[in-house]
Amino acid sequence: MSDPDDTAGAKPASTASLAKRLWRDWLSRRPGLVALALVLSAITAGAAASYAGVIAWTFDKLNAGAADFFPLAPLAVIGLATVRGVSLYLQTVQTNRLALNVMQDLQNAMFGKLVRADFARLQAEGTGSLVSRFTNDITLLRETIVRLANNLMRDVLTVIITVGVMLSLDWMLTLLILVVYPIAAWPVIRIGQRLRKTSSQAQSQMGEVTSQLEESFSGARMVKTYGLEGYESERARKSFFDRLRFLLKITENKARVDPILEVVGGLAFAGLVAFAGWRMLEGETSVGNIIGVLTGIGVISPAIRALGTLNAVVQEGFAVLERIFTILDTDETVTAALDAPALSVDRGGVELDSVNFAYPDGSVALRDFSLKAAPGATIALVGPSGSGKSTILNLLPRLYDAQSGTIRIDGTDTRSVSLTSLRQAMALVSQDVTLFDDSVRANIGFGDLEADEAAIIAAAKAADAHDFIMALPDGYDSPVGPRGSNLSGGQRQRLSIARAILKDAPILLLDEATSALDTESEQRVQSALERLSQGRTSLVIAHRLSTVRDADWIYVMDQGCVAEQGKHDDLVARDGLYARLCKMQFGD
Ligand SMILES: Nc1ncnc2c1ncn2[C@@H]1O[C@H](COP(=O)(O)OP(=O)(O)OP(=O)(O)O)[C@@H](O)[C@H]1O
Ligand SMILES: [Mg+2]
Repeated sequence: MSDPDDTAGAKPASTASLAKRLWRDWLSRRPGLVALALVLSAITAGAAASYAGVIAWTFDKLNAGAADFFPLAPLAVIGLATVRGVSLYLQTVQTNRLALNVMQDLQNAMFGKLVRADFARLQAEGTGSLVSRFTNDITLLRETIVRLANNLMRDVLTVIITVGVMLSLDWMLTLLILVVYPIAAWPVIRIGQRLRKTSSQAQSQMGEVTSQLEESFSGARMVKTYGLEGYESERARKSFFDRLRFLLKITENKARVDPILEVVGGLAFAGLVAFAGWRMLEGETSVGNIIGVLTGIGVISPAIRALGTLNAVVQEGFAVLERIFTILDTDETVTAALDAPALSVDRGGVELDSVNFAYPDGSVALRDFSLKAAPGATIALVGPSGSGKSTILNLLPRLYDAQSGTIRIDGTDTRSVSLTSLRQAMALVSQDVTLFDDSVRANIGFGDLEADEAAIIAAAKAADAHDFIMALPDGYDSPVGPRGSNLSGGQRQRLSIARAILKDAPILLLDEATSALDTESEQRVQSALERLSQGRTSLVIAHRLSTVRDADWIYVMDQGCVAEQGKHDDLVARDGLYARLCKMQFGD
């Protein structure tokens, strides 16, 4: 397994640049939602700030003995509270709507990118890790954006407007407050920085845990028959413990924020009361002004507190954002030019010319390998396990690109044509069958999304699958189960052959296509494949002598090179690797 978190190694982007990009690429694409949220935030903030003014005014009137103003004050407060309540509700719904829309945009972009990503990258990343980008990561980021929009717009406005009101009531007292408050903010910022790092580590660890759990459960058959329950439990225990450590660390950091603000805030408040008392005794300010300023503190405190914890939340969410942006920024390496023409297959001749290839982990699979398949010919690839046979079939549809050498179809370099047309020209049937959790009909239909019922049934019949399909509870509508688990190995393989038959591609790639079938079924499918390969170019990896013997040409591979090539009889006569393989594998 390679490092599941390739973003951790990259240099971390600054919060500012992440925020800028979030705004430029994602939030500003929804100007209507943003504007409405902003307006509602301003109304909510204005209503909150008016409290301080209204209270100061009320108390000064009371103090001056103007008791007839008294009934107005409670009514004003009720009015303000109502405005604030309604706007708060609308604003909360609006910011969530904004966040959810942005999340949806991000998910679509991320999926669109990953579904087209290099095969090698998807293989290396691990399913669990990829899935957690869409589950845990997205949830975290949504919370962050809601908080950002809720708090940043509303609370910042609340603080600004309220401070304005407070300054107009008693500027000296207010200035003192403005000096004292930032002192409380400093430790909170420090905690936020630490939190971002831990959170990023926790996220990638979560991906590892998901991958591991998936492995354990999907490998249940192996786990049970090999008695690996204890080993798996130990592996799980280790990951859960790591998880616990990370989450505790995050919790500790987060839990520190509120008490710090509480203590520092209390100290500051005591100082302010002393200062205000002294000013009143000196006759420099009124009771109404002081009560108004104190009310103002009451209004801005929750807002500032929210802004304090906002930093921690944002740091956590931005760790996620960075990972998502990395996904969006990683370009495919297996690509064709935008204006690449479609491959026009005339006769389907295949040629590999001095191809060298190593997998991303460095294992060399093909060395200076050359092969020529005449149009319509059936070419057999034989050789010991690990000699590079499947690799050739990986390179033809460009699941990977060779490091050097050229692969041509009808004389056209496969890199010069569009990927879609290239892949359309081939049908691949391999040992590991992929079925989606859908009906039998749909799983065959992936071969040709336009195919009608009759074509699907014909393909199923040719693949010797029709009879077992009809015996299923719902025939062609029967669900195959997750990864085809409702079917036997041989049944799954026949569905994948039916899919290939339906695709009707000029080039046929068969990698042990009949390995999971019983002898009788294999003979029938084999003859179906033989009929199918008529007039098509076929590259066949097979373990049955009959298939290999009838091939037009045989390449015998060893350690990524061609050890021998020729016709069956000539190769046997040479008494080399092929003859030895025949004796061992085919019992010939
Ligand atoms: N995804 C991969 N990542 C890294 N190395 C790989 C990968 N797939 C194959 N290899 C390596 O490439 C070499 C050739 O493998 P390949 O699958 O082509 O062999 P093969 O001839 O098809 O063997 P078999 O008969 O067992 O299917 C092997 O050494 C193998 O370890
Ligand atoms: Mg293989």
